[in-house]
Amino acid sequence: MTSQDTPDPVSPIPCRGGCAGHPGGASRRTVLGRGSLAALAGAGSLALAGCTQEIKDRENAQDHYAGSALTDALAADDLPVGATQAVEVNGRTLLMHRVDEETVTAYSNVCTHQGCLVQPVDRAEGPAYACPCHGSNFDPVTGEPFGGPARQPLMDYEAAVQDGRIVVKL
Ligand code: FES
Repeated sequence: MTSQDTPDPVSPIPCRGGCAGHPGGASRRTVLGRGSLAALAGAGSLALAGCTQEIKDRENAQDHYAGSALTDALAADDLPVGATQAVEVNGRTLLMHRVDEETVTAYSNVCTHQGCLVQPVDRAEGPAYACPCHGSNFDPVTGEPFGGPARQPLMDYEAAVQDGRIVVKL
């Protein structure tokens, strides 16, 4: 063994990473820790891949998307043409507007600016959804923002009038 085989812990030559026992170098524990994290991440990916494959293999795989079920919201008579209302449906608050006899819109009440809860308001120019935090307003027909900092429309839900009821896809 020569003096070149044994690293000098106080060598003036800088260690460029991976030098065990050297300040700033990776220790064995660090290397093992990183390896364990990588292994866990790999195992998680495999588990998710297995789950996805299980769903893909089912005959009804195309039904595994959010919004596949029509959910009863309220009686059509409770939301007359031109009215807006916040409606609780399966634990979600939806902002609904009856555009005409056959058409209903439904939007999330979560403001697209910073997530405050938007509420129906009656303005002189007509109904709107207003955010109490920074003043964004949203059109109840289109969900588009106006008069505030929000730039994105409210998240919409498909809604319809069926057999005297208003139903929505969640
Ligand atoms: S959170 Fe609604 S306007 Fe800012």
